[in-house]
Amino acid sequence: MSDPQLVLAARVQAALAAAFGPSYADADPVIRPSSFADLQANVALPLAKKLGRKPREVAEEIVANLDTGGVVSDVQVSGPGFINLTLSDTWIAAEAQRALEDERLAVPQVDKPQKVVVEYSSPNVAKEMHVGHLRTTIVGDAIARVLAFLGHDVVRDNHVGDWGTPFGMLIEHLLDLGEDAAARGDASVRDLTAFYQAARLKFDGDEEFADRSRRRVVALQAGDAETLRLWNILVDVSKQYFNDVYGRLGITLTDDDIKGESFYNDLLGPTVRELEDKGIAVVSEGALCAFPPGFTGREGEPLPVIIRKSDGGYNYSTTDLATIRYRVDTEHVDRMIYVVGTTQALHFQMVFAVARMAGWLDDDVRAEHAQIGNVLGTDGRLLRTRAGGTVKLSELLDEAVERAGVVFDEIQHDEPFDDATRAEIVRDVGMGAVKYADLSVARDSEYIFDLDRMISFNGKTGPYLQYATARIRSIFRKGGLDPRDATGPIVVGHPAERALALELLGFGAVLQQAGDTAEPHRLASYVYAVADAYTTFYENCPVLKAPDEETKASRLALCAATLRTLVTGLDLLGVPTPERM
Ligand code: ARG
Repeated sequence: MSDPQLVLAARVQAALAAAFGPSYADADPVIRPSSFADLQANVALPLAKKLGRKPREVAEEIVANLDTGGVVSDVQVSGPGFINLTLSDTWIAAEAQRALEDERLAVPQVDKPQKVVVEYSSPNVAKEMHVGHLRTTIVGDAIARVLAFLGHDVVRDNHVGDWGTPFGMLIEHLLDLGEDAAARGDASVRDLTAFYQAARLKFDGDEEFADRSRRRVVALQAGDAETLRLWNILVDVSKQYFNDVYGRLGITLTDDDIKGESFYNDLLGPTVRELEDKGIAVVSEGALCAFPPGFTGREGEPLPVIIRKSDGGYNYSTTDLATIRYRVDTEHVDRMIYVVGTTQALHFQMVFAVARMAGWLDDDVRAEHAQIGNVLGTDGRLLRTRAGGTVKLSELLDEAVERAGVVFDEIQHDEPFDDATRAEIVRDVGMGAVKYADLSVARDSEYIFDLDRMISFNGKTGPYLQYATARIRSIFRKGGLDPRDATGPIVVGHPAERALALELLGFGAVLQQAGDTAEPHRLASYVYAVADAYTTFYENCPVLKAPDEETKASRLALCAATLRTLVTGLDLLGVPTPERM
């Protein structure tokens, strides 16, 4: 453990216990970064109130009992009773050295690995992915990567929408076009939006077509082999398209991670039966419903989760309930994280509540909706094309790469690049820009999709961070050195060296928090803070032209540790880091 906040918390807790008794061993010492010292403990004031004593006196007593043991070089009681703590330079240097020497940058694996389902992306078959899916895909992938790095058993789960009534008309439309149109990769099938709209148009305007579509739904639900074969053709076309998008974005989902709505089809009946047996599902106005406590409508009337419609059909909620039941009973998961838009918040709250009533969820099994905010255009409205249509994801990504190319050609490069290398770097810059922009804002807040802002080498952007890593690599290249040979020892002298080393020590705690809260923006901010501290260091502390060999060795080691922290952090965000830029 090298996170300064955690290290000091443990020491202040020990001091509290020593001064006021063992019951204080778990008290929160309320340690925060401060502008007066590295960290400040704000525990004396609340404690003094409880003890009926003077805060400053209590603070002095904590300090008197504090074992600073090489970690803290200075302690001051300030103001009404704050305790200002300054870390010792030698401790910081030693911890940075430990991170440098450790393959995992001294980030510990969790003591108790959990089985965690991270459900993300979840686009719909036979429909184009939209920017909302783009965001759940990017954020979900980062969550999965972080949790896996921490040592959890991560199950990636792509809950694609591949079942339901629209498939009747989609299959009939496929038959009208001819199956070989799919095999040939005809645009009429491959263009998912056009395909869906054409089917819809016929369904609305052609009675005969609508009739056979309805019959087809019945056949599909009954498991008719020929219908399933046709359905599979449609699913495959969509899978190719999803994989195309995932491939471009470097998303770690594979076909094996797909467990779509269809997967749970056979489990719907038994799930509903269990809910009926437990007295949770009751008939209301012809439909089978559950009424989780605490959910009421405008007039105070209880809100239902519809489990079976009056026509006998199951719906979205039924599938989600069957999914939870399966994950608990069969997959034995400890935690499930749903990376899905905020607009579905009520749906998940109610479904989770019903699952709790059924006993599938309890304190040992956690289900959480990792909400994803809407993606807006620069006009502040939901992202649309100029013509008002939905934006095609592939075109958006094309544009990102194109703009990355323009900006890339404007910056200074150490050396000229051949076309193929340039294209590769520019692709990484474009995708890195889109991904980092998505990840750098709190996932539940709305976010403005603005290519101009995200594709810039200045500011809190992917390209800025990628460039930071390339610049560090270029120092090593210029010095004819391999970062792996920069072994230190790290010594901190200059304030900028100290600040950088201290920043590096926070990596583990940030990952832990990002994993616990399923909030990758914490990691995104951290990586930026590291790059920022590095920039100050680089401007103040010559590396290759350091005043002496010891300082040079130490600074090279700091560069190497920074490089690995940035590259690892960005990799956990799914942002690629080109070797050269
Ligand atoms: N396919 C859905 C959509 O595009 C998202 C699925 C979310 N996951 C779930 N378990 N309901 O909106």
